[in-house]
Amino acid sequence: MTNDHLVSPSILSADFGNLQRDIEMLNNSEADWIHVDIMDGVFVPNISFGFPVAEVAKKHATKPLDVHLMIVEPDRYLKRFAEAGAAGLTVQLEACPNLHRTVQVIKELGCRAGVAINPHSPVSLLEDIVIDLDVVLVMSVNPGFGGQHFIENTYKKVAEAKNLIERRNSKALIEVDGGVDKNNAGKLYAAGANVLVAGSSVFAASSPSEMISMLKHA
Ligand code: DX5
Ligand code: ZN
Repeated sequence: MTNDHLVSPSILSADFGNLQRDIEMLNNSEADWIHVDIMDGVFVPNISFGFPVAEVAKKHATKPLDVHLMIVEPDRYLKRFAEAGAAGLTVQLEACPNLHRTVQVIKELGCRAGVAINPHSPVSLLEDIVIDLDVVLVMSVNPGFGGQHFIENTYKKVAEAKNLIERRNSKALIEVDGGVDKNNAGKLYAAGANVLVAGSSVFAASSPSEMISMLKHA
């Protein structure tokens, strides 16, 4: 079994009235990580959920929580999300004036360190931080909402990220987030992606766990 093709379903699209049921479905699926989207209404024009929901996810999940912080000043909350059970913490490059320090703190907390770049941010901005990263997250939509259209320029950015990671001898995985579905998953893996986040394509499917398998083996 290859370790290269991971799927991280986003509970942003789960049924919050049945969150335990949906997380148990993920536990019993081929999902590798569980993606937890935190939005503050400032960095992005939407508010998702905070610590209580992340803690419920942790309580029921048997898979690592992949926490994506779409918030300003993430440094203020890294420790709390680590305590809430995050296995990985991904911050947005655009929200971090002292990104190197932020990444070191995430690692000191014992979490996998990720940096996400928005569609307008070039991969080259990661040149001097990629060696310290466990995850490079390429946003394939503008963050803030599930169910948006995939931006085609993402394939090029994934290839650029792969090139940068190899050139700089980094071990970072490339994660893609936004508008991922069975039509683009194979092409994203082919471009160099290692981890695909999928919200609406999984939870709107008639069989979410079959959709997860389809994405993983795309
Ligand atoms: C977008 C979030 C995503 C979102 C993806 O702002 O970061 O993780 O849940 O949802 P889909 O897969 O529906 O685009
Ligand atoms: Zn996300």
